[in-house]
Order: sequence, then C-alpha cells, then structure tokens
Amino acid sequence: MAVVPTDDIVALLEQDHAAIQERLIELENADSNDRAMLFRELTTELSRHEVAEEMVVYPVIRTEPGGDVIADARRAEESEAEALLAHMEILDPTTEEFMGAVRDLRSAVMDHAAREETYVFPLLLAHGEDAYLALLGQKFRGEKLGAPTHPHPRLPNSALGNRVFGPFASFIDRQRDSA
Ligand SMILES: [Fe+2]
Ligand SMILES: [Fe+2]
Repeated sequence: MAVVPTDDIVALLEQDHAAIQERLIELENADSNDRAMLFRELTTELSRHEVAEEMVVYPVIRTEPGGDVIADARRAEESEAEALLAHMEILDPTTEEFMGAVRDLRSAVMDHAAREETYVFPLLLAHGEDAYLALLGQKFRGEKLGAPTHPHPRLPNSALGNRVFGPFASFIDRQRDSA
C-alpha cells in the first residue's frame, strides 16, 4: 500500500484502519508457524492505534453535540475487541480455536473501524479547519510513537488507565513489562 505522508487526522486514521485490516487478513492466511509473530505485531499496532485515538480523537468528539453517546458506543466496541485479544493471548496459535477467534476479531475490529468512519469522522471534519486537523494528526502520530499509556506503567489495567486511555492501554503496558 502506497502511503502518502500526511498530518491530517482523518487520513491517518484511514491509513491505520487499512493497515490493520491487511494485518488481520495476513494473520488469517498465515502458516501456523508465523501466526504467533503476526499476532504480536497486530496486537501492538492495534493497541497503539486505539490508545492514541482515546488520547487525541475521542476527547475532541466528546465536545461535540451528541459526541458522548458516539464515543461511549465506540469504546464499548473497543472493549469487545480487547476482550477477544486477551482471550487469544492464552490460545495456541496453531489451533482451529485460535483461527476462529481471528475471524471473530477481524469482524469486530473492522465493524468498529467502519462505525468510526461513519459516525466519528464527520464530527472530526465538522470540528475544525485543515490546520486544526493537521495539529490533531501530529499529536496522534506522537502518541503512537510511545507516549506513556497511563500514569504508572507498573499498574497494568489500572482503573485510571482504563478510564483515561481506553481498554487497550493495558496491552501496551503488558508488552512493555515483558520486553
Ligand atoms: Fe477505535
Ligand atoms: Fe480507529
């Protein structure tokens, strides 16, 4: 996929959604030996995307009329995907059960992305002019590069981390802790 560098937040989110979909399809078609590595990479990319959204995108959405309802619904979808990922972490990637979970994950994640594109993107576009959307894009990029996900990295899945940074925050902290 040719990626044109941009700071526009909507374009960056679209690029991420396309890249995540590619990774999901790649995992679904992978040899059993490659699945564990591809699953780890997918988990990292998806977690960084969702946490950066929670930090940069959803606070803006919540300032728009009706934004809280939309943001809460999207967070519930993220929780569903997070629960699936957490379940998959304890499955053997060579099994059919794991592959069933990959298919469930793909459908949950891509439904979530489609709903963001339908309900969240128009609010972002309505919220500000190009320069503001570019500023949000720069912040989003920065958060994806490794900002702390919650105030205390040794408290994985803390209530505070979850409230502020969303259901995926604990994944990044667990990955850091095991690195
Ligand atoms: Fe999301
Ligand atoms: Fe997204």
